Amino acid sequence: MPALAHTTRAIARQWTAHQLPVARAAAASTTQSRSVSEVHSPSSSFDSPFKGAGSSPKMPSFAAYRNKSGGETAPKVFSYFMVGTMGALTSLGAKATVQDFLVNMSASADVLAQAKVEIDLAAIPEGKNVIIKWRGKPVFIRHRTADEIKEAEDTKWESLRDPQSDGDRVKKPEWLIMLGVCTHLGCVPIGEAGDFGGWFCPCHGSHYDISGRIRKGPAPLNLEVPEYDFPEEDKVVIG
Ligand code: FES
Repeated sequence: MPALAHTTRAIARQWTAHQLPVARAAAASTTQSRSVSEVHSPSSSFDSPFKGAGSSPKMPSFAAYRNKSGGETAPKVFSYFMVGTMGALTSLGAKATVQDFLVNMSASADVLAQAKVEIDLAAIPEGKNVIIKWRGKPVFIRHRTADEIKEAEDTKWESLRDPQSDGDRVKKPEWLIMLGVCTHLGCVPIGEAGDFGGWFCPCHGSHYDISGRIRKGPAPLNLEVPEYDFPEEDKVVIG
């Protein structure tokens, strides 16, 4: 009996080994057929535009969004018109603003009238001083004599406190034009006075020579020469 049982188990193992590959192949074919049926399932709710990719993709249509009134140029013309109009209006507004600002900032007519002053030099005799008012300040105009011109030119100006030659202070030697404001603390000097025959400031004792250069006293600088010009022979315009 043990021999019979051993023979029976050997036959069973042999049969199992023969049947196992066949069973595996059947199971694989079942799995594969289920996968294919799932891919092609008609019950899927997603209608993909890429279905059947590889042949021809399905592209969405934008025809519903196109302008059907005037083609593609009509909206462009309207856009260009609006941009151009707004640009022009903005430019006009900016121009008006800047123009108003400049007009407001510029000097008024009465200020311009005071900015320059014209003097008739023929009325000033030689050797005399005239004081005029220009922009609220006194201006000295001296009609110098030949001796005064020579004295002013012969002075060794290089060693002065504020070195300046007479030629740098006048446009015509006979006409000395300068502000009548002492360069110390702003007093008005007195003409034809002082130790150097020019101007003397009584406030603290500054002496200016016949060219308006500081020669003695606390003032640090020469009397200032303003802007002026001779438009005609006997006329000077200051400013
Ligand atoms: S202000 Fe002229 S000397 Fe002082």
